[in-house]
Amino acid sequence: MGAARAAGILAAVVAALVLPPAVLGLDNGLALTPPMGWLAWERFRCNTDCINDPKNCISENLFFEMADRLVADGYLAAGYEYINIDDCWSSRTRGDDGRLRADPERFPSGIKAIADYVHSKGLKLGIYGDYGNYTCAGYPGSLGHLQTDAQTFAEWNVDFVKFDGCYAHPKDMDKGYPEFGFHLNQTGRQMVYSCSWPVYQIFSGMTPDYASIAKHCNLWRNYDDIQDSWASVTTIIDYYGDNQDVLIPLAGPGHWNDPDMLIIGNFGLSYEQSKAQMALWVVMASPLLSSVDLRTIGPEYRAILQNRAAIAISQDPLGIQGKRIFKDKGIEIWARPITPVVGEYYSYAIVFFNRRVDGTPSQVSVTIHELGMLNAAGYRTEDVFAGQSYGVLYPADRLKVDVNPSGVVLVRCSAVPARAFGRPPQQQLQRGGRPFFTTTRPRFF
Ligand SMILES: *[C@@H]1O[C@H](CO)[C@@H](O)[C@H](O)[C@H]1NC(C)=O
Ligand SMILES: *[C@@H]1O[C@H](CO)[C@@H](O)[C@H](O)[C@H]1NC(C)=O
Repeated sequence: MGAARAAGILAAVVAALVLPPAVLGLDNGLALTPPMGWLAWERFRCNTDCINDPKNCISENLFFEMADRLVADGYLAAGYEYINIDDCWSSRTRGDDGRLRADPERFPSGIKAIADYVHSKGLKLGIYGDYGNYTCAGYPGSLGHLQTDAQTFAEWNVDFVKFDGCYAHPKDMDKGYPEFGFHLNQTGRQMVYSCSWPVYQIFSGMTPDYASIAKHCNLWRNYDDIQDSWASVTTIIDYYGDNQDVLIPLAGPGHWNDPDMLIIGNFGLSYEQSKAQMALWVVMASPLLSSVDLRTIGPEYRAILQNRAAIAISQDPLGIQGKRIFKDKGIEIWARPITPVVGEYYSYAIVFFNRRVDGTPSQVSVTIHELGMLNAAGYRTEDVFAGQSYGVLYPADRLKVDVNPSGVVLVRCSAVPARAFGRPPQQQLQRGGRPFFTTTRPRFF
């Protein structure tokens, strides 16, 4: 490494020391790590035809069956604890008492019975509402009923509320979402609060008041609904990468950007693309809400969702959202600071992401130092999906990975304490190893 390059990196490190002020998040004690669970929408949509399609329609049977699979197939043990109902669960009209009620034909036992059932299995229940006059699918919305609906959800022992924003004026949301959050809080029942507030404002041309959003919501949707395609996944990844300077400072324990559901195991993604979605979601500190038919998912896709090393990165207690640190010629590198923190040095999860489609793996070759990792005692490095160890790599060491087309290599680099090697921390190349700085361009090919 030439002196000029080293000096350039040092300047970048110093610049990174001026971090934006930490965002003050919602203080309800929940979602201290990105929430994990299952959500009906992407896969099951608003299928209410229980006569012709009883196995797949939005009904209590679907949620009982998915709850059983979450537990029996190891998802709960891996951390997927929420089972979340989305739109189309309710009756077309409120009851005589003005309250929301479940569709009597499709949910004859009622929502509370589902909550009791999932709680008996160690799971938690999520439900869906909408701030506007109607839900997106045209069911009753909560406008004019905010307090009643918060109270109803609490009485049903719900643990998570996704609050959509169809049929509402985006500029009313700055008042309306905090108001519903206030009523949730006043019930005394802890419920994760998922807001669609910013996405509706962005799509109407407004600039969201993110300080307020992070103060009132545990997670929030910034961008379009995910669809069952690689094009949809990559568009979302680009949005989060292109807007990372605004979005990263918002994330932290209790408050998360939400790029929408995992679609792994459905029809649209290949095996490589499925690992890519998992790796990027994990490094973006995104909620992990899987939307898939758990009764038919293939074992290799289930293994991706349940990969313990990937989930450990997702659930890292620091809760720092990762960043795209390199993008050129179809190769991207994303980095997320994680524990353990050794002195001033973070550990990192790194995603090497190949968006090229020229049929053969691309080799990415980069030194540990170029990735921004300066701990002289090195980093214990492992490939998360391959389960392969690279041993301890030092800042001058070169990491070479072959990344499949539309695939990823996800590595975890855990900072090694200096004394573990019985050497003094000599060669402290630079101090002040703060979470992020732009590295020099890594070489590839
Ligand atoms: C919701 O309904 C009220 C009352 O009918 C109406 O005044 C308001 O404009 C509606 N909001 C939207 C976004 O349609
Ligand atoms: C309600 O808000 C207060 C103040 O932020 C917080 O301490 C408390 O935990 C919240 N309660 C619930 C049930 O969310």
